Amino acid sequence: MGSSICYFNGKFGDVAKARISPLDRGFLFGEGLFETWRTYSGRPYGISEHLARMARTAKQIGIAFDPDEPWEQRSTELARRNHMLKSDGAVRMTITRGRGPISLVVEATEDPTRLMLFRPLEPGLGIAKRDGVAIHLVSVGSGVSERQRQIKSLNYLPAILARTQARERGCFEALYHLDNGKVLEGTTSNIFVVRRGVVRTTPISMGLLPGVTRHKVIKLTRSITKLREEVLTLDDLLAADEVFLTSSSIEIVPVVRVGRRKVGKGSVGEITRQLQLDYRKAVARQLDIPIESLGE
Ligand SMILES: Cc1ncc(COP(=O)(O)O)c(C=O)c1O
Repeated sequence: MGSSICYFNGKFGDVAKARISPLDRGFLFGEGLFETWRTYSGRPYGISEHLARMARTAKQIGIAFDPDEPWEQRSTELARRNHMLKSDGAVRMTITRGRGPISLVVEATEDPTRLMLFRPLEPGLGIAKRDGVAIHLVSVGSGVSERQRQIKSLNYLPAILARTQARERGCFEALYHLDNGKVLEGTTSNIFVVRRGVVRTTPISMGLLPGVTRHKVIKLTRSITKLREEVLTLDDLLAADEVFLTSSSIEIVPVVRVGRRKVGKGSVGEITRQLQLDYRKAVARQLDIPIESLGE
């Protein structure tokens, strides 16, 4: 199930005993944000980028958040208290505006809620990375304004519905696209396609979450081949030699089927394999952990 110990408003304690007010605006209106970073042997990876995204978007919606508090130490302490210093997992951090009136418009509130939970990695992640996965296509009409603001808010109902639909069809992830066939992103991942050695990914200007992993993978790709940020369509997916998904907790997962259609030869491609390895090397180097001790 993940955490038995959480970090909640300044203290570590039993998850079962943490209490959130019924007037918490995160609960009432989804007025809050979250970030998920992966931990390797208990050590967070990319945490400064996740905190920076949270700080930027917290400012946009007027919730106080200080990225310079000792979040990294807290994340490691959370892993230690959950006995996760020898294996890998993910930390989910949630902040909300805290208690306030039952009204859409509020004056500044004083006690924002801060919660960090530990969660295990996706079951079967190792197999997904080795063999590749299928994705399910979900249309989101002509666009969603919240997504266009690139805020990782607590309103993940569309993601829950899309991912559930995907799982019912044996697919690992659901991919959002517009009615006109333009591809956006996964419910919790960004997408890349490879054709004739050129790697392409949807530009953030399409209204995507600027993924921390997306950014890292763009840099890694540029050191091995050509990378272009350009609008992708469903036809591009079907014509691709390789497709892969990125996010902090899954790293790089190859896509070998889009619905029932095979991608390329229907097996994991060479560039995807190379990037999976390069990503792991970067993690191992930055955290100073032997590559063999990284989990799934
Ligand atoms: C909508 C969406 N896109 C992309 C991502 C991947 O982002 P990151 O690489 O920062 O984990 C996420 C992560 O949860 C997400 O929710």
